[in-house]
Amino acid sequence: MPTLLSNEQSDYWSQVAQSFVWRKKWEKLQTGDFHKANVEWFVGGELNITENCLDRHLEDRRQKKALIFEPNNPNELASFLTYGELHISVCCFANLLLNRGIKKGDVVCFYMGMTPELMIGILACARIGAIFSVVFGGFSPLSLRGRLEDSNAKMIITHDGGFRGDKIVPLKQMVDEAIVDLESIKTVLVVKRTLQEISMKQGRDYYYDALIKDAELYCPAVTMKSEDPLFILYTSGSTGKPKGLLHTTAGYMVHVGKSFKDVFQYKENDIFWCTADIGWITGHSYMTFGPLLNGATTVMFEGIPTYPTPARFWEVVEKHQVTHLYTAPTAIRSLEKFGHEIPEKFKMKSLKVLGSVGEPINDEAWLWYHKYVGKERCPLVDTWWQTETGGILISALAGITELKPGYASLPLEGIEPALMNEQGVEIKDLVASGNLCLKTPWPSLARTIYGDHERFIQTYFTTYPGYYFTGDGARREANGFYRITGRVDDVINVSGHRLGTAEVEEAINEHVDIVESAVVGLPHPVKGQGIYAFVVPTNNVVDSEKLEKEIRDLVVKIIGPIARPDLIQVVDGLPKTRSGKIMRRILRKIVENEIENIGDTSTLLNPEIVEIIIKTKKSLS
Ligand code: WT7
Repeated sequence: MPTLLSNEQSDYWSQVAQSFVWRKKWEKLQTGDFHKANVEWFVGGELNITENCLDRHLEDRRQKKALIFEPNNPNELASFLTYGELHISVCCFANLLLNRGIKKGDVVCFYMGMTPELMIGILACARIGAIFSVVFGGFSPLSLRGRLEDSNAKMIITHDGGFRGDKIVPLKQMVDEAIVDLESIKTVLVVKRTLQEISMKQGRDYYYDALIKDAELYCPAVTMKSEDPLFILYTSGSTGKPKGLLHTTAGYMVHVGKSFKDVFQYKENDIFWCTADIGWITGHSYMTFGPLLNGATTVMFEGIPTYPTPARFWEVVEKHQVTHLYTAPTAIRSLEKFGHEIPEKFKMKSLKVLGSVGEPINDEAWLWYHKYVGKERCPLVDTWWQTETGGILISALAGITELKPGYASLPLEGIEPALMNEQGVEIKDLVASGNLCLKTPWPSLARTIYGDHERFIQTYFTTYPGYYFTGDGARREANGFYRITGRVDDVINVSGHRLGTAEVEEAINEHVDIVESAVVGLPHPVKGQGIYAFVVPTNNVVDSEKLEKEIRDLVVKIIGPIARPDLIQVVDGLPKTRSGKIMRRILRKIVENEIENIGDTSTLLNPEIVEIIIKTKKSLS
């Protein structure tokens, strides 16, 4: 049955939406359902999200800091932009885009380091109705090219190079590689950052510096319909090809703005620091739009947690008097390694609220974060959501909901989760474990996979007809608290980054001497999950060390450094069913050291291989 909104839900969402600025009020609150995967919100409404993020604050907050920028190198001066200045910067950038022929509905890709121009740039797109697509700088040129082709982007905006710890990422050079013979890209815009030498192609490549000088200081915000596209963001799924999730304007704005305020209990003059990269949904929703919609001050950090020392996060908290720190379990674990003596040296008196996102947070990391960073006086909210959900759906409200390590806790108001059993039926018992679904629509749900609505339906709405399926497993306790147990599909979560095992396998299989491969998640003390690859070579291979190195290099080349396998085991064969299907489940058990739970292997095509694989299994040193 299509599940429709209850009266309470309808009242709630209309009330929330009224706190935003509309050019024309919506006619219908919500249409469509999960059967048809045609959900729409605030239908008939008109607005511009940047008017809500910027213009409406100008009267009261013109001089207030909107953005604080902390550079990679602590010796470089930090800078800030007030709401007044951010408004002008966005207008200028928007005019620059218009001057380069970008129109409403065109796709503009960003492949940049974390500097203010990235945030200004995506807001500039939203100002004129161009669809932005941010690709994380850790993806390879080949991955970037795939995303540019898929989205048919007209323009790409990059840096000459990006600072990342003690490394420099040659972003412009990577763009050059990515767009060889790519006709759709008409303009490459280069923001200077590292001042390294780069090549510029006449008539295609332009410096931002040079063009911004001619841009007018005011740009009217274009009128957008509620359901006009706002951005595309690529994420991995269980097949090889990344999916471009499309988010639209009004629904995204309403839920992201409201959830920011509620979950973090944001108060005027708080300083909010989300450490994610804008290349991920967290950076879109809770570094950019959530804070700006609320007139907050948001901190953007260009660098990494361990540069120049593992005290950097705590130094930045004190330097900018951060009140809210929102980061990922993997970052916490990577700092935990250096000992609690480091955060203990910092009082971090400004801190009020801590947040966690991206993967289940283990008790040890939760307690460490709560004790040594939050000094046991800051509520720690574990926020569960996805690229697809646009904003947080299950989380404690800081200081209001009781805290329990390992629990994302309760759904936000208006959100209705459900757990499904193996027969595909919703479990009505309160205490239960099952696959996590959402029963009713919420405003910031992605509307489609760009260019492939069929895949959108297949991926999210067919497993449990009438429900949105998240791909996660969860447990619900007697107090209604949810504990997210992790992915139940072929997706792994490496340092909070989502990767499809099929994507990594496809990359490995490109090697001439590989017959086939199977990739599974490996429990990893810092990354949460690492990548364990089983590879079957041809007879030509004599030097397996050399092969392993080549495979690692190949995966980095095809996908990017985030997908580099941690362990590679060369095997003669993979366990298969009689119909030839690779039994990844068995490999997963072996890697998770659950050998006694492998189950019956006698029906396999090649049962003997399991023993051999176990004997030659590798471990993290
Ligand atoms: C997947 C979504 C949410 C923005 C960053 C990641 C996992 C996310 C939690 C959490 C347990 C979590 C899920 C989800 N996940 N937050 N608090 N507890 N798991 O977005 O790349 O779209 O990944 O991350 O498995 O499905 P994403």
